[in-house]
Amino acid sequence: MRDEIQEILITEEEIQAKCKELGKQITEEYDGKFPLVIGVLKGAMPFMGDLTKRIDTHIEMDFMDVSSYGAGMVSSGEVKIVKDLDTSVEGRDVLILEDIIDSGLTLSYLVKLFHYRKAKSVKIVTLLDKPEGRKVDLVPDMAGFTVPDAFVVGYGLDYAERYRNLPYIGVLKPEIYES
Ligand code: XMP
Ligand code: MG
Repeated sequence: MRDEIQEILITEEEIQAKCKELGKQITEEYDGKFPLVIGVLKGAMPFMGDLTKRIDTHIEMDFMDVSSYGAGMVSSGEVKIVKDLDTSVEGRDVLILEDIIDSGLTLSYLVKLFHYRKAKSVKIVTLLDKPEGRKVDLVPDMAGFTVPDAFVVGYGLDYAERYRNLPYIGVLKPEIYES
């Protein structure tokens, strides 16, 4: 797979160091609060695994699968719940874990939904932030890295369901999209 990647933007080591740093921050902020940590499938899966191991206080984990993208690369603008939570967010401190915030449409929908469902607090931690892609006003509470307005893959992020299993974040060679 490495020969299909044009450039590695964020290495495995940098990601792991960031998870440690964010985990420490989350531990300090949520100690004793038993937050509900919600991973947005499928992209947040590797990040959820690595980050939660660095949180040194009790948490509950759940997953939600929403889709705003088809198999391609352009946001459709509509958010669909593919899999809902098993847990009630009412009265809970909710921490949403995302792989990337691009337009912000997915997250702004989820934040509104959890407030509507009476969460006590709702915060967002994203591994990657692509501020140039924003279509709605949304700022993550914690972000790992800022990325340029390019399509990135790896560490949960896919192109047509491939490359999620790369341990780093990279940019694909243009011929991969063209083929
Ligand atoms: P929005 O636009 O709602 O997007 O903030 C969030 C979701 O869009 C996907 N996304 C990407 N996936 N490379 C990807 O593989 C990218 O560069 C990219 N930008 C957005 C992703 O699923 C994210 O959860
Ligand atoms: Mg996603």
